[in-house]
Amino acid sequence: MKVGVIGSGGREHALCHALKNSEKVNKIYCIPGNAGTNLFAENVEINLSDFKKIKDFILNNKIDLIVIGPEKPLVDGMADYLKNFNIKVFGPNKIASQLEGSKIFTKKLCEKYKIPTAKFGIFNNIKDAKKFLSQTIFPLVVKADGLAAGKGVYICNNIQQSITAIEEIFEGKFGETKEVLIEEFLKGEEMSFFIISDGTTFKTFGTAQDHKRALEGDEGKNTGGMGAYSPSRLETLSLNKKIIDKIIIPTFKGLKNLNTNFVGFLYAGLMIINDEPFLIEYNVRMGDPECQTILPKLKTDFFKIVDACVDQKLNSINFEWKEEKSICLVLCSKGYPDKYENNVEVKNLNNISLNKNEFIFHAGTINKNSKIFSNGGRVLNFVILSKDFKVGREKALSLIEQIDWPNGFFRRDIGYKVINK
Ligand code: AMP
Ligand code: GLY
Repeated sequence: MKVGVIGSGGREHALCHALKNSEKVNKIYCIPGNAGTNLFAENVEINLSDFKKIKDFILNNKIDLIVIGPEKPLVDGMADYLKNFNIKVFGPNKIASQLEGSKIFTKKLCEKYKIPTAKFGIFNNIKDAKKFLSQTIFPLVVKADGLAAGKGVYICNNIQQSITAIEEIFEGKFGETKEVLIEEFLKGEEMSFFIISDGTTFKTFGTAQDHKRALEGDEGKNTGGMGAYSPSRLETLSLNKKIIDKIIIPTFKGLKNLNTNFVGFLYAGLMIINDEPFLIEYNVRMGDPECQTILPKLKTDFFKIVDACVDQKLNSINFEWKEEKSICLVLCSKGYPDKYENNVEVKNLNNISLNKNEFIFHAGTINKNSKIFSNGGRVLNFVILSKDFKVGREKALSLIEQIDWPNGFFRRDIGYKVINK
Protein backbone atom coordinates (compact mmCIF):
# COMPACT_ATOMS: atom_id res chain seq x y z
CA MET A 1 0.00 0.00 0.00
CA LYS A 2 1.05 3.57 -0.61
CA VAL A 3 0.26 6.00 2.18
CA GLY A 4 0.51 9.79 2.28
CA VAL A 5 0.95 11.85 5.45
CA ILE A 6 0.12 15.55 5.41
CA GLY A 7 2.26 17.80 7.65
CA SER A 8 5.85 18.48 8.66
CA GLY A 9 6.13 18.34 12.45
CA GLY A 10 7.24 15.84 15.06
CA ARG A 11 3.72 14.42 15.04
CA GLU A 12 4.00 13.65 11.32
CA HIS A 13 7.44 12.03 11.71
CA ALA A 14 5.94 9.80 14.41
CA LEU A 15 2.93 8.99 12.18
CA CYS A 16 5.23 8.07 9.26
CA HIS A 17 7.39 5.98 11.57
CA ALA A 18 4.38 4.03 12.87
CA LEU A 19 3.13 3.46 9.31
CA LYS A 20 6.58 2.34 8.15
CA ASN A 21 6.48 -0.51 10.66
CA SER A 22 3.40 -1.98 9.00
CA GLU A 23 3.97 -5.00 6.77
CA LYS A 24 1.19 -3.66 4.52
CA VAL A 25 2.88 -0.35 3.74
CA ASN A 26 5.54 -0.30 1.06
CA LYS A 27 5.72 3.41 0.23
CA ILE A 28 5.17 6.56 2.28
CA TYR A 29 4.95 10.12 0.98
CA CYS A 30 5.10 13.04 3.40
CA ILE A 31 3.72 16.38 2.22
CA PRO A 32 5.85 18.41 2.87
CA GLY A 33 7.74 16.47 5.60
CA ASN A 34 11.04 17.23 7.35
CA ALA A 35 14.58 15.84 7.46
CA GLY A 36 13.37 12.96 9.66
CA THR A 37 10.51 11.81 7.47
CA ASN A 38 12.94 12.00 4.55
CA LEU A 39 14.94 9.13 6.05
CA PHE A 40 12.34 6.60 4.89
CA ALA A 41 9.50 8.51 3.23
CA GLU A 42 9.52 10.60 0.09
CA ASN A 43 9.07 14.26 0.97
CA VAL A 44 6.89 16.21 -1.44
CA GLU A 45 7.07 19.98 -1.39
CA ILE A 46 3.50 21.22 -1.90
CA ASN A 47 1.87 24.13 -0.08
CA LEU A 48 -0.82 22.70 2.23
CA SER A 49 -3.35 25.28 1.12
CA ASP A 50 -3.07 24.09 -2.48
CA PHE A 51 -5.68 21.31 -2.28
CA LYS A 52 -5.80 20.84 -6.05
CA LYS A 53 -2.08 20.21 -6.35
CA ILE A 54 -2.20 17.78 -3.44
CA LYS A 55 -5.15 15.94 -5.01
CA ASP A 56 -3.36 15.74 -8.38
CA PHE A 57 -0.24 14.34 -6.72
CA ILE A 58 -2.27 11.72 -4.83
CA LEU A 59 -4.13 10.58 -7.94
CA ASN A 60 -1.06 10.61 -10.21
CA ASN A 61 0.90 8.50 -7.73
CA LYS A 62 -2.03 6.20 -6.88
CA ILE A 63 -1.72 6.77 -3.13
CA ASP A 64 -4.13 4.44 -1.32
CA LEU A 65 -4.71 6.34 1.90
CA ILE A 66 -4.04 9.86 3.24
CA VAL A 67 -3.51 10.71 6.91
CA ILE A 68 -3.92 14.42 7.69
CA GLY A 69 -1.78 15.50 10.67
CA PRO A 70 -2.38 19.20 11.41
CA GLU A 71 -5.56 21.12 12.21
CA LYS A 72 -5.44 23.89 9.60
CA PRO A 73 -6.06 21.73 6.49
CA LEU A 74 -8.77 19.82 8.40
CA VAL A 75 -10.58 22.98 9.46
CA ASP A 76 -10.23 24.28 5.88
CA GLY A 77 -11.98 21.16 4.56
CA MET A 78 -9.13 19.15 3.02
CA ALA A 79 -10.73 15.83 4.00
CA ASP A 80 -14.04 16.72 2.25
CA TYR A 81 -12.18 17.99 -0.82
CA LEU A 82 -10.08 14.84 -1.24
CA LYS A 83 -13.00 12.49 -0.56
CA ASN A 84 -14.84 14.11 -3.47
CA PHE A 85 -12.19 12.53 -5.70
CA ASN A 86 -12.69 9.10 -4.07
CA ILE A 87 -9.48 9.42 -2.10
CA LYS A 88 -9.46 7.53 1.22
CA VAL A 89 -8.81 10.02 4.02
CA PHE A 90 -8.14 9.56 7.70
CA GLY A 91 -9.17 12.86 9.30
CA PRO A 92 -12.45 14.61 10.13
CA ASN A 93 -14.58 16.58 7.70
CA LYS A 94 -15.04 20.34 7.78
CA ILE A 95 -18.18 20.36 9.93
CA ALA A 96 -16.72 18.01 12.57
CA SER A 97 -13.45 19.98 12.51
CA GLN A 98 -15.37 22.95 13.87
CA LEU A 99 -14.81 21.27 17.23
CA GLU A 100 -11.33 22.78 16.99
CA GLY A 101 -11.95 25.49 14.39
CA SER A 102 -14.54 27.33 16.48
CA LYS A 103 -14.42 27.43 20.26
CA ILE A 104 -17.90 28.95 20.21
CA PHE A 105 -19.25 26.00 18.15
CA THR A 106 -17.90 23.64 20.82
CA LYS A 107 -19.24 25.73 23.70
CA LYS A 108 -22.72 25.75 22.17
CA LEU A 109 -22.53 21.98 21.73
CA CYS A 110 -21.51 21.65 25.38
CA GLU A 111 -24.46 23.75 26.43
CA LYS A 112 -26.95 21.81 24.33
CA TYR A 113 -25.72 18.36 25.40
CA LYS A 114 -24.87 19.29 29.02
CA ILE A 115 -21.18 18.51 28.60
CA PRO A 116 -19.25 19.72 31.65
CA THR A 117 -17.16 22.77 30.76
CA ALA A 118 -16.32 26.22 32.18
CA LYS A 119 -19.28 28.62 32.45
CA PHE A 120 -19.15 31.07 29.59
CA GLY A 121 -20.59 34.04 27.77
CA ILE A 122 -20.41 34.98 24.08
CA PHE A 123 -20.24 38.68 23.21
CA ASN A 124 -20.47 40.41 19.86
CA ASN A 125 -19.49 43.91 21.02
CA ILE A 126 -17.09 45.51 23.46
CA LYS A 127 -19.81 47.41 25.34
CA ASP A 128 -21.69 44.28 26.46
CA ALA A 129 -18.45 42.49 27.25
CA LYS A 130 -17.31 45.40 29.46
CA LYS A 131 -20.65 45.47 31.26
CA PHE A 132 -20.28 41.77 32.00
CA LEU A 133 -16.72 42.32 33.29
CA SER A 134 -17.89 44.91 35.80
CA GLN A 135 -20.05 42.27 37.54
CA THR A 136 -17.77 39.24 37.46
CA ILE A 137 -14.94 37.72 39.49
CA PHE A 138 -11.31 37.17 38.42
CA PRO A 139 -9.30 35.43 37.12
CA LEU A 140 -11.24 34.69 33.97
CA VAL A 141 -10.35 33.55 30.48
CA VAL A 142 -10.88 35.50 27.26
CA LYS A 143 -10.67 33.54 24.00
CA ALA A 144 -10.67 34.24 20.30
CA ASP A 145 -13.11 31.97 18.48
CA GLY A 146 -11.03 30.55 15.61
CA LEU A 147 -7.69 28.79 15.14
CA ALA A 148 -4.90 30.86 16.65
CA ALA A 149 -1.89 28.48 16.58
CA GLY A 150 -1.91 28.01 20.36
CA LYS A 151 -2.38 31.74 21.00
CA GLY A 152 -5.70 33.56 21.33
CA VAL A 153 -6.29 32.49 24.96
CA TYR A 154 -5.82 35.13 27.65
CA ILE A 155 -5.89 34.33 31.37
CA CYS A 156 -6.90 37.70 32.87
CA ASN A 157 -6.51 38.74 36.50
CA ASN A 158 -8.35 42.06 36.32
CA ILE A 159 -10.68 44.21 34.23
CA GLN A 160 -7.88 46.05 32.43
CA GLN A 161 -6.20 42.85 31.19
CA SER A 162 -9.58 41.54 30.05
CA ILE A 163 -10.39 44.71 28.13
CA THR A 164 -7.00 44.62 26.38
CA ALA A 165 -7.63 40.99 25.40
CA ILE A 166 -11.12 41.71 24.08
CA GLU A 167 -9.90 44.72 22.12
CA GLU A 168 -7.04 42.76 20.55
CA ILE A 169 -9.43 40.00 19.51
CA PHE A 170 -12.00 42.39 17.99
CA GLU A 171 -9.19 44.32 16.26
CA GLY A 172 -8.45 41.13 14.35
CA LYS A 173 -5.21 39.93 15.96
CA PHE A 174 -6.36 36.34 15.33
CA GLY A 175 -8.27 37.00 12.12
CA GLU A 176 -11.58 38.68 11.51
CA THR A 177 -14.05 37.93 14.29
CA LYS A 178 -17.55 38.90 15.24
CA GLU A 179 -17.63 37.27 18.65
CA VAL A 180 -15.46 36.81 21.71
CA LEU A 181 -15.73 34.09 24.34
CA ILE A 182 -15.35 34.85 28.06
CA GLU A 183 -14.99 31.87 30.38
CA GLU A 184 -14.83 31.03 34.03
CA PHE A 185 -11.27 30.10 35.09
CA LEU A 186 -11.09 26.43 36.08
CA LYS A 187 -8.54 25.43 38.69
CA GLY A 188 -7.44 21.82 38.51
CA GLU A 189 -4.96 19.61 36.67
CA GLU A 190 -4.92 19.31 32.91
CA MET A 191 -4.98 16.04 31.01
CA SER A 192 -4.92 15.23 27.30
CA PHE A 193 -7.35 12.43 26.41
CA PHE A 194 -7.32 10.80 22.96
CA ILE A 195 -9.99 9.01 20.97
CA ILE A 196 -9.82 7.39 17.55
CA SER A 197 -13.09 7.08 15.63
CA ASP A 198 -14.31 5.57 12.37
CA GLY A 199 -17.54 7.59 12.32
CA THR A 200 -19.66 4.85 13.87
CA THR A 201 -17.60 3.59 16.80
CA PHE A 202 -14.60 4.85 18.71
CA LYS A 203 -11.82 3.61 20.97
CA THR A 204 -9.58 5.36 23.45
CA PHE A 205 -6.06 6.12 22.24
CA GLY A 206 -4.15 6.90 25.42
CA THR A 207 -3.70 9.85 27.73
CA ALA A 208 -0.83 12.28 28.21
CA GLN A 209 0.35 15.29 30.12
CA ASP A 210 1.74 18.07 27.98
CA HIS A 211 4.06 20.86 29.26
CA LYS A 212 2.98 23.96 27.41
CA ARG A 213 5.10 26.65 29.07
CA ALA A 214 8.51 27.43 27.63
CA LEU A 215 10.47 27.41 30.90
CA GLU A 216 11.08 24.99 33.76
CA GLY A 217 8.59 25.06 36.62
CA ASP A 218 5.82 25.89 34.10
CA GLU A 219 7.04 29.48 33.75
CA GLY A 220 7.30 31.65 30.65
CA LYS A 221 5.24 31.81 27.52
CA ASN A 222 2.81 29.24 26.17
CA THR A 223 4.27 27.05 23.42
CA GLY A 224 2.97 24.22 21.26
CA GLY A 225 4.40 21.84 23.89
CA MET A 226 7.90 21.40 25.35
CA GLY A 227 7.48 17.77 26.33
CA ALA A 228 4.95 15.22 27.48
CA TYR A 229 4.55 11.94 29.25
CA SER A 230 2.05 9.12 28.87
CA PRO A 231 -0.03 7.89 30.58
CA SER A 232 -1.28 10.92 32.49
CA ARG A 233 -0.87 10.45 36.24
CA LEU A 234 -4.60 11.19 36.59
CA GLU A 235 -5.77 8.30 34.43
CA THR A 236 -8.01 5.74 36.15
CA LEU A 237 -10.71 3.44 34.82
CA SER A 238 -13.41 5.38 36.63
CA LEU A 239 -12.19 8.75 35.31
CA ASN A 240 -11.98 7.30 31.78
CA LYS A 241 -15.59 6.18 32.08
CA LYS A 242 -16.73 9.62 33.25
CA ILE A 243 -14.91 11.31 30.34
CA ILE A 244 -16.48 8.96 27.82
CA ASP A 245 -20.00 9.10 29.28
CA LYS A 246 -20.15 12.83 30.06
CA ILE A 247 -18.01 14.30 27.27
CA ILE A 248 -17.18 12.03 24.34
CA ILE A 249 -20.53 10.24 23.80
CA PRO A 250 -22.61 13.45 24.00
CA THR A 251 -20.19 15.14 21.57
CA PHE A 252 -20.59 12.36 18.99
CA LYS A 253 -24.34 12.48 19.53
CA GLY A 254 -24.25 16.23 18.84
CA LEU A 255 -22.34 15.65 15.59
CA LYS A 256 -24.81 12.93 14.57
CA ASN A 257 -27.67 15.37 15.10
CA LEU A 258 -25.88 17.72 12.71
CA ASN A 259 -25.98 14.87 10.18
CA THR A 260 -22.27 14.31 10.32
CA ASN A 261 -19.74 12.07 12.04
CA PHE A 262 -16.10 12.04 13.12
CA VAL A 263 -13.37 10.00 11.42
CA GLY A 264 -9.91 10.51 12.86
CA PHE A 265 -8.26 11.40 16.13
CA LEU A 266 -10.17 13.48 18.64
CA TYR A 267 -8.09 15.11 21.36
CA ALA A 268 -9.97 16.37 24.41
CA GLY A 269 -8.06 18.93 26.47
CA LEU A 270 -9.52 18.46 29.95
CA MET A 271 -9.32 20.06 33.35
CA ILE A 272 -9.74 17.50 36.12
CA ILE A 273 -11.20 18.94 39.31
CA ASN A 274 -11.76 16.58 42.26
CA ASP A 275 -11.75 13.62 39.88
CA GLU A 276 -14.41 15.21 37.64
CA PRO A 277 -13.61 16.06 34.00
CA PHE A 278 -14.35 19.44 32.40
CA LEU A 279 -13.78 20.07 28.70
CA ILE A 280 -11.44 22.99 28.03
CA GLU A 281 -11.02 22.48 24.31
CA TYR A 282 -11.19 19.95 21.51
CA ASN A 283 -8.54 19.36 18.88
CA VAL A 284 -9.44 17.30 15.83
CA ARG A 285 -6.03 15.63 15.45
CA MET A 286 -3.30 14.07 17.57
CA GLY A 287 -1.38 16.41 19.86
CA ASP A 288 2.20 17.39 19.22
CA PRO A 289 4.26 16.24 21.20
CA GLU A 290 1.61 13.85 22.59
CA CYS A 291 1.57 11.88 19.33
CA GLN A 292 5.34 11.26 19.49
CA THR A 293 4.88 10.19 23.12
CA ILE A 294 1.92 7.83 22.66
CA LEU A 295 2.42 6.17 19.25
CA PRO A 296 5.63 4.29 20.16
CA LYS A 297 3.62 2.53 22.88
CA LEU A 298 1.27 1.01 20.29
CA LYS A 299 1.92 -2.66 19.49
CA THR A 300 -0.93 -3.07 16.99
CA ASP A 301 -0.21 -2.30 13.33
CA PHE A 302 -1.05 1.40 12.98
CA PHE A 303 -1.83 1.17 9.27
CA LYS A 304 -4.45 -1.51 9.98
CA ILE A 305 -6.06 0.84 12.49
CA VAL A 306 -6.32 3.86 10.18
CA ASP A 307 -7.35 1.68 7.27
CA ALA A 308 -10.11 0.13 9.41
CA CYS A 309 -11.22 3.63 10.40
CA VAL A 310 -11.71 4.83 6.84
CA ASP A 311 -13.65 1.62 6.08
CA GLN A 312 -15.76 1.99 9.26
CA LYS A 313 -14.42 -1.29 10.63
CA LEU A 314 -12.67 -0.10 13.76
CA ASN A 315 -14.66 -2.61 15.81
CA SER A 316 -12.77 -5.43 14.11
CA ILE A 317 -9.44 -4.30 15.58
CA ASN A 318 -8.14 -5.08 19.03
CA PHE A 319 -5.58 -2.56 20.29
CA GLU A 320 -2.50 -3.74 22.13
CA TRP A 321 -0.17 -1.36 23.97
CA LYS A 322 3.26 -1.72 25.49
CA GLU A 323 3.33 -1.61 29.29
CA GLU A 324 6.21 0.88 29.43
CA LYS A 325 5.81 4.52 30.35
CA SER A 326 6.73 7.05 27.70
CA ILE A 327 8.35 10.45 28.04
CA CYS A 328 9.20 13.00 25.35
CA LEU A 329 11.56 15.98 25.61
CA VAL A 330 11.46 18.63 22.88
CA LEU A 331 14.64 20.38 21.79
CA CYS A 332 13.81 23.90 20.54
CA SER A 333 15.55 26.82 18.88
CA LYS A 334 16.63 29.48 21.41
CA GLY A 335 14.04 32.26 21.39
CA TYR A 336 11.04 29.99 20.66
CA PRO A 337 8.06 30.69 20.91
CA ASP A 338 9.09 34.20 19.86
CA LYS A 339 11.87 35.02 17.41
CA TYR A 340 14.53 32.43 16.68
CA GLU A 341 17.15 31.75 14.08
CA ASN A 342 16.70 29.09 11.39
CA ASN A 343 19.33 27.33 9.29
CA VAL A 344 21.72 26.57 12.12
CA GLU A 345 23.44 23.21 11.61
CA VAL A 346 22.51 20.49 14.09
CA LYS A 347 25.62 18.36 14.39
CA ASN A 348 26.31 14.85 15.60
CA LEU A 349 22.74 13.63 15.17
CA ASN A 350 23.81 10.80 12.88
CA ASN A 351 26.35 9.48 15.39
CA ILE A 352 23.76 8.81 18.07
CA SER A 353 22.88 5.16 18.35
CA LEU A 354 19.41 4.34 19.59
CA ASN A 355 18.39 1.19 21.43
CA LYS A 356 14.98 -0.44 21.24
CA ASN A 357 12.37 1.86 22.80
CA GLU A 358 14.43 5.00 22.11
CA PHE A 359 13.32 7.35 19.35
CA ILE A 360 14.30 10.69 17.86
CA PHE A 361 11.52 12.36 15.89
CA HIS A 362 12.35 15.41 13.81
CA ALA A 363 10.14 18.51 13.72
CA GLY A 364 11.64 21.76 12.36
CA THR A 365 14.58 20.25 10.47
CA ILE A 366 15.77 20.39 6.89
CA ASN A 367 18.34 18.29 5.07
CA LYS A 368 20.87 20.14 2.91
CA ASN A 369 23.71 18.19 1.30
CA SER A 370 23.35 15.42 3.90
CA LYS A 371 23.63 17.88 6.78
CA ILE A 372 20.76 18.68 9.14
CA PHE A 373 19.79 22.32 9.77
CA SER A 374 17.17 23.79 12.10
CA ASN A 375 14.03 24.95 10.35
CA GLY A 376 11.52 25.88 13.04
CA GLY A 377 10.88 26.57 16.72
CA ARG A 378 10.53 22.97 17.85
CA VAL A 379 13.31 20.99 16.22
CA LEU A 380 13.77 17.48 17.67
CA ASN A 381 11.79 15.16 19.97
CA PHE A 382 13.53 12.61 22.18
CA VAL A 383 11.19 9.82 23.25
CA ILE A 384 12.03 7.02 25.65
CA LEU A 385 9.87 4.09 26.74
CA SER A 386 10.98 2.61 30.04
CA LYS A 387 9.77 1.11 33.26
CA ASP A 388 9.63 4.47 34.98
CA PHE A 389 9.54 8.12 33.95
CA LYS A 390 12.72 9.03 35.81
CA VAL A 391 14.84 6.48 33.94
CA GLY A 392 13.25 7.62 30.68
CA ARG A 393 13.94 11.28 31.32
CA GLU A 394 17.57 10.62 32.25
CA LYS A 395 18.08 8.68 29.05
CA ALA A 396 16.42 11.42 26.94
CA LEU A 397 18.64 14.05 28.60
CA SER A 398 21.74 11.98 27.86
CA LEU A 399 20.74 11.77 24.18
CA ILE A 400 20.16 15.53 23.96
CA GLU A 401 23.59 16.11 25.46
CA GLN A 402 25.16 14.24 22.55
CA ILE A 403 23.73 16.75 20.07
CA ASP A 404 26.14 19.48 19.04
CA TRP A 405 23.85 22.46 18.53
CA PRO A 406 24.55 25.54 20.66
CA ASN A 407 21.34 27.20 19.43
CA GLY A 408 19.11 24.68 21.22
CA PHE A 409 17.20 24.86 24.50
CA PHE A 410 14.90 22.42 26.30
CA ARG A 411 13.21 21.78 29.64
CA ARG A 412 14.96 19.32 31.96
CA ASP A 413 11.92 19.05 34.23
CA ILE A 414 9.40 17.34 31.91
CA GLY A 415 7.35 15.00 34.08
CA TYR A 416 8.23 16.76 37.33
CA LYS A 417 4.81 16.02 38.77
CA VAL A 418 5.36 12.28 38.39
CA ILE A 419 9.09 12.21 39.04
CA ASN A 420 9.85 14.53 41.98
CA LYS A 421 7.77 12.68 44.46
P1 AMP B 1 -6.93 26.20 24.86
O1 AMP B 1 -6.24 26.67 23.61
O2 AMP B 1 -8.39 26.48 24.93
O3 AMP B 1 -6.55 24.81 25.26
O4 AMP B 1 -6.24 27.05 26.03
C1 AMP B 1 -4.85 27.04 26.24
C2 AMP B 1 -4.57 26.85 27.69
O5 AMP B 1 -5.19 27.88 28.47
C3 AMP B 1 -5.10 25.55 28.27
O6 AMP B 1 -4.23 24.47 28.04
C4 AMP B 1 -5.24 25.90 29.74
O7 AMP B 1 -3.98 25.79 30.37
C5 AMP B 1 -5.64 27.34 29.71
N1 AMP B 1 -7.09 27.48 29.80
C6 AMP B 1 -7.97 27.59 28.76
N2 AMP B 1 -9.23 27.71 29.21
C7 AMP B 1 -9.17 27.68 30.56
C8 AMP B 1 -10.14 27.76 31.60
N3 AMP B 1 -11.44 27.95 31.36
N4 AMP B 1 -9.70 27.69 32.88
C9 AMP B 1 -8.38 27.54 33.16
N5 AMP B 1 -7.42 27.47 32.23
C10 AMP B 1 -7.80 27.54 30.94
N1 GLY C 1 0.48 19.85 22.50
C1 GLY C 1 -0.70 20.57 22.33
C2 GLY C 1 -1.33 20.45 21.03
O1 GLY C 1 -0.95 19.67 20.18
O2 GLY C 1 -2.29 21.17 20.78
